Amino acid sequence: MCGIVGYIGNKDVDSVILVGLEKLEYRGYDSAGFASIIDGELLIKKKKGRIRELAALLNGIPISSNIGIGHTRWATHGKPTDENAHPHTDCKKLFAVVHNGIIENFRELRKKLEKSHKFISTTDTEIIVHLLEENYEGKFLESVLKTIKSLEGSFALAIINRNHPEMLIGVRKGSPLIVGIGKDENLLASDIPAIISHTRRIIPMEDGEIAVLTQNKVEIYDFDGKRKRRRSVYIEWEEDMIEKRGYPHFMLKEIHEQPRVIEDNLIRVIEEGKVRIPSEEVKNLLINSKYIIIQAAGTSFHAGLYGKYLFEKYMKTFTECELSSEFRYKELITDAKALCIGISQSGETADTLAGIRKAKELGIPILSLVNVRGSTIDRESDVTIYINAGPEIGVASTKAYTAQLFNLLVMAIDVGREKGTLKEEEEKEIIKELKQIPDKMRYILGREDEISQIAKKYYNVRNTMFLGRGLLYPTALEGALKLKEISYIHATGYAAGEMKHGPIALIDENFPVIAIAPKNELYEKMMSNIEEVKAREAPVIGIGTEGDQDLRKICDDFIPIPHIHYLLQPLIAIVPLQLLAYHIALLRGCDVDKPRNLAKSVTVE
Ligand code: AGP
Repeated sequence: MCGIVGYIGNKDVDSVILVGLEKLEYRGYDSAGFASIIDGELLIKKKKGRIRELAALLNGIPISSNIGIGHTRWATHGKPTDENAHPHTDCKKLFAVVHNGIIENFRELRKKLEKSHKFISTTDTEIIVHLLEENYEGKFLESVLKTIKSLEGSFALAIINRNHPEMLIGVRKGSPLIVGIGKDENLLASDIPAIISHTRRIIPMEDGEIAVLTQNKVEIYDFDGKRKRRRSVYIEWEEDMIEKRGYPHFMLKEIHEQPRVIEDNLIRVIEEGKVRIPSEEVKNLLINSKYIIIQAAGTSFHAGLYGKYLFEKYMKTFTECELSSEFRYKELITDAKALCIGISQSGETADTLAGIRKAKELGIPILSLVNVRGSTIDRESDVTIYINAGPEIGVASTKAYTAQLFNLLVMAIDVGREKGTLKEEEEKEIIKELKQIPDKMRYILGREDEISQIAKKYYNVRNTMFLGRGLLYPTALEGALKLKEISYIHATGYAAGEMKHGPIALIDENFPVIAIAPKNELYEKMMSNIEEVKAREAPVIGIGTEGDQDLRKICDDFIPIPHIHYLLQPLIAIVPLQLLAYHIALLRGCDVDKPRNLAKSVTVE
């Protein structure tokens, strides 16, 4: 999950690379590095730590060069140190390489190469540059073609060679890499934010492709060196969408963007008072599927659990929801009437991509919900629904989650109507309340100060438990994930009915419980669970329906959410949990947008 940037053009390369890396820092931030070619020699600067440390290293050194590569690292092999930072170079300092991915056969390659090459780092990446050196006989592209034939695993590479200052090469296999096509300049990057200030024309590279960039030309080849014709696509995002717009953190901005994201999505799907999936092909796939397998990771998996409930209740279609890291290795019992749905904000999660490829091999059609158009999962799916949440930069997913829930709901309602499994009256009631979601989110966002006050009471705890039932069980899991991943507090999510089967043994006065208990068909059951944990002295934060005095009375702290149809409660009940996690993490001095050990897009296993 590293970030790569490459540039060849008419601007000062150091500023282009540094700004590009800053835009990709959410992909990894253990170390950062830069390489360029000046007067036929490689200049390499790299350092453990954030990009600002690299900028300090480059500060004041004018780099009059028009070609360079940069890297911000999420350590896979080798600790975050200066030596392990990318770029890496070979013994003759001919090549400089930055890499995102994992070279799975690096140990055997290193054993062979160590006989005649001196290794500086403990990374898997360094074997690439020594191989390039061995394969170089004066032709840059040929040396790359030869080298990649020895590599197994996943690699997105940007490569320069000091004998070819007019050429920048990118390689893509298993990790994302895009080409930006500018005026008198061309770029390589792991993701759109690093490119968008230069150009909106991109070529999302596909696995098994090599891009050869000069200042005015881009050529794409396959791994056999055969030229490929690839059309560029136009990015619709506005550049300022990837800025913080006055918020202290991307995560807070994205939490507050949720009402608008839902409004934008409502406009896309409401037609003559009904909600419609914006693709007949998707609807037909859903209608004709005998059973559905949803597979995803992290927050997207929690959205998938909501989808499972909806598809079974409103489409009467048996649905499984699996963690993609498990799904990709399991024995799949299937037939052609199955449908595999991949849910992924980034569209690049390695496990989810592997799950899709596995299902595809078995002839199962693939429908995916993604946020990033042109992402690998988008391009490898038979059909895609875009959740249209706009760029999500904060590592902790927020607006993408509620946008995923919304789009899954639209699918269930539209198909439920077609199949006659959703009564018209109920559909009308749901749609009426669906339109109120943005304002009901705003109601909660308007109480952020109260939530930040509650955060002050709990930011020093070591353990927490989130409880929910039915549709609010995935909400409990998601709320726990938000808190743990940005505050580093141990937070676990449970189905409240599970408490008696073990978890309640954990509960005491030092173990706060966050109970998600809005008025619905399981409310009384939740109230009993809250009484049980109260009886064991645990402090309880209740997330409940506005005006619920009973819940307010038995909880130590109460965060109200507006009354809404049970089906829609997950779309708003998560908002106070996002804000609570944000403010607790802030009070703990954590880096909310770039939590330790994490990256926004998990493109390696
Ligand atoms: C969510 O807050 C986490 N950052 C993480 O669990 C994330 O949801 C997961 O890695 C899946 O990412 P994707 O949606 O891009 O596939």
